[in-house]
Amino acid sequence: MTSKKIRQKYLDFFKDRGHAIIPSASVMPDNDSSTLFISSGMQPLIPYLLGEKHPAGTSLVNSQKSFRAEDITEVGDNRHITFFEMLGNLSLGGYFKKEQLPWIFEFLTAELGLDIGRLYATVFRGDADIGVDKDKESVEILKNIFKNKGLVAKDLDFSERDGLRGGRIFYYPAGKNWWSRSGVPANMPPGEPGGPDSEIFYDLGADLKKHENSPWAGEPCHVNCDCGRFIEIANSVFMEFKKTASGFEKLKQQNVDFGGGLERITMVAQGVDNIFETDLFSNIINGISRLSGKKYRDNMKEFEIIADHLRAVTFIMGDDKGIAPANTGQGYLVRRLIRRAIRYGRQLGITDDLWTKEIAKTVAHDYQEIYPELGRNINKVIELLKEEEAKFSKTLEQGLKELEKMKPKFISAVGVGSLSAKSGI
Ligand code: GLY
Repeated sequence: MTSKKIRQKYLDFFKDRGHAIIPSASVMPDNDSSTLFISSGMQPLIPYLLGEKHPAGTSLVNSQKSFRAEDITEVGDNRHITFFEMLGNLSLGGYFKKEQLPWIFEFLTAELGLDIGRLYATVFRGDADIGVDKDKESVEILKNIFKNKGLVAKDLDFSERDGLRGGRIFYYPAGKNWWSRSGVPANMPPGEPGGPDSEIFYDLGADLKKHENSPWAGEPCHVNCDCGRFIEIANSVFMEFKKTASGFEKLKQQNVDFGGGLERITMVAQGVDNIFETDLFSNIINGISRLSGKKYRDNMKEFEIIADHLRAVTFIMGDDKGIAPANTGQGYLVRRLIRRAIRYGRQLGITDDLWTKEIAKTVAHDYQEIYPELGRNINKVIELLKEEEAKFSKTLEQGLKELEKMKPKFISAVGVGSLSAKSGI
């Protein structure tokens, strides 16, 4: 099933269940200083989660352009990307757990054909300090979902030392199963909405312990352990709380904020174990291969960083509110992504001048039907990439000249052996 079909199926599935399809908001936040970029589907909809009436009603569905800067250095494993499309359905004081959980499992299994035997769920363990109970209601609903598919779902408290122990539903603390724009309860400012969540993980298989350097290598696996075996594909947040000066109170409405990354959902639906092997990236990866003359399989990390970073900046600079590379704030992140991509391009041996625009054109070509602003703004993106690439080349050349000038002094100070060991010269 193509990613285009998966996106459309998701929107149609929730439309058939009374949701209004709304367009993605800009990836640049509006009146929201909590993050530099929109990093989840609910973020542009905060006023409505707090009780304002949304013109399209109480049930909404969309695919929201999102960017998470904190994942920049994680790119290059099988699951992390900086820019992603967040499939999201929201209930603004309408339906709640007993509708949301069965719907999302139905979507994943009946619509996308995922094997229920590979799905695991997590729920909030409860926290007396904030006065929020263990989410037993979700557990009962989840047990029934599995039972209706012929599976007995054992619920267990999470324990990293003990591993899976035949469990199917796990209770985790707020660090994993609480969601708000600012993270765990302690980090939420007064007025911020948040709540416990229930996540769905897909089991890629016990043999997929790829990440030998993971702190979890050799430890018993559990669904959140990050060894590469399990991947989170869906998160239903039951957003019914608001932080106050002294603790938490119930919001005036019970909301659902569901978020699932299209890239991860596509990965498992297409039966691959790496986001970059989905059709969402195939033209971009082929483009890098053409430019470098190298194969993806032999240089996965470099390809993935270039693909992720140039896709992200094309969406950020190609937004109607797009911004240019700069030395501070949002522009600094754009600059960092472009320069990292160029650096890894050099490592791959890409020698063409001003090559990054070729990848941007591919991104615009692949996505403009869904995000028409990319078609409207691609010429601006190309110009900005050309300028930034030229600037960076000049900086690199100057740096190399400086290094050449310094080399004799440096060598006499540290000795030739030490210089070659340290710099790889
Ligand atoms: N808003 C839910 C999530 O980003 O996972």
